[in-house]
Amino acid sequence: MAVVQRFVCRECGRESLRWEGRCPGCDAWNSFDEVERGTSSRRAAGGRSATATPRPLGDRAGPGAARLSVGAGDFDRVLGGGAVEGSVVLLGGAPGIGKSTLLLQAAAAIAGAGAAVLYVSGEESEEQVRRRAARLGEGAARVLFLAETSVDAIVEAAARSSPVLLCVDSIQTTVREGLDSAPGSVSQVRGAADALRSFAKRSGTPTFLVGHVTKGGGIAGPRTLEHLVDVVLHFEGLRGEDARILRATKNRFGRVGELAVYRMSDRGLVEVTDPGRTLLEERAAGPGSALTVTIEGARAVPVEVQALTTGSTQPSPRRMTTGYPARRLAMLLAVLERRGGIPLGRREVFVNVVSGFRITDPGADAGVLAALVSAELDRVLPPTAAFLGEAGLSGELRGIGEREARVRELARMGLTDVLIPARRGTENGDGAAAGVSIHPVSSVRQLIGWVRRHGTPVATEEQLP
Ligand code: TYD
Ligand code: MG
Repeated sequence: MAVVQRFVCRECGRESLRWEGRCPGCDAWNSFDEVERGTSSRRAAGGRSATATPRPLGDRAGPGAARLSVGAGDFDRVLGGGAVEGSVVLLGGAPGIGKSTLLLQAAAAIAGAGAAVLYVSGEESEEQVRRRAARLGEGAARVLFLAETSVDAIVEAAARSSPVLLCVDSIQTTVREGLDSAPGSVSQVRGAADALRSFAKRSGTPTFLVGHVTKGGGIAGPRTLEHLVDVVLHFEGLRGEDARILRATKNRFGRVGELAVYRMSDRGLVEVTDPGRTLLEERAAGPGSALTVTIEGARAVPVEVQALTTGSTQPSPRRMTTGYPARRLAMLLAVLERRGGIPLGRREVFVNVVSGFRITDPGADAGVLAALVSAELDRVLPPTAAFLGEAGLSGELRGIGEREARVRELARMGLTDVLIPARRGTENGDGAAAGVSIHPVSSVRQLIGWVRRHGTPVATEEQLP
């Protein structure tokens, strides 16, 4: 049966062939819902229908139970086991990170298996997308493509071709005709997302929307955009030029915190199947390097902190820090000197957060302390260790928020030893589930002692013959 779009007023049931901001029947604002022809008369009759049969909550065969594999194991896992029928997934990320490539690849995998996938771009021309598709193998050639910005035209095309997956790149370039605000404006983004969402729900088509991000890292547009969709994914560079990480920050159908790591190749994105190992392999195995986990928004992000300390001839030795607040570094240096017995007052100190993230979270203090101690004592930290905790002025290390999320992230990376302030009553037990050993440390002194015992000494330049 051909699907025909109709709009029905929620208040009075008046039908229209086009969306209206204000109902001509009852004057209600924003009351029009899109419906299919078959359901419109039911809606108009006040939503009562003989087919509205209550169903036990445990009935998994109900709507929303079906999941579509998007072709790649890790992408499916981040979604919670594939894309749920009728779900709307928002994929955010900086320009050039690979959002279009990721979606086109997923589209190609599905199209390659013989199903119809519709990829709509308001960002790029057909020629541009075709050139990208040529790099992505056989399946990409079978993806249905439409260069379009009008949401009504997109929904109509999707209704006509009944794809198993709809991709819209991007939500910011999609407009709802009839609204006079500019593309990308709050009302346009909202209006377009609303229309696509109702299409997804009505037709059961999983729908992916690409979203631009603002300088602050949030997805551009109305705040409500993230509430409107079922899943929010972020795609970002974690370290170096070519490793990218995909993770869910919201998922109505799965766990957040799952992540997938990709590398951009000349044939699209390639999954890095053991991200922990790769991230660790890229790590410099030298003194002054320590791992910690910082909380970025809703995310636990593993980061490597590097430190270097050297003698100085300056009256006021340099302190250079990248990715960590200078004032906080000054505090840590004072704590190390007065409470830890490691005088750094006359030393030059350099700190760098390697992954490119900026640490603003005090829970990562222990990582910076460990890097500083490791650098100053010329001891290489065990590559399996990570450091968590907030430093206090008395030299104590305090417990931190998001403890489980951080430890879980480290476990995923293959780290086995986590130094972390003990949580009362759980001395050693609480890391067991995640497969890591928890080493409780409650002071900077204990942390220094651990580095002395477990760090491997290296010969410094001055000690070499
Ligand atoms: P793109 O997916 O367009 O990023 P976004 O949609 O997030 O802006 O592509 C990102 C970059 O990846 C782009 O600079 C080109 C590059 N690229 C490759 O290196 N190899 C490839 O096979 C493809 C398709 C893209
Ligand atoms: Mg793009």
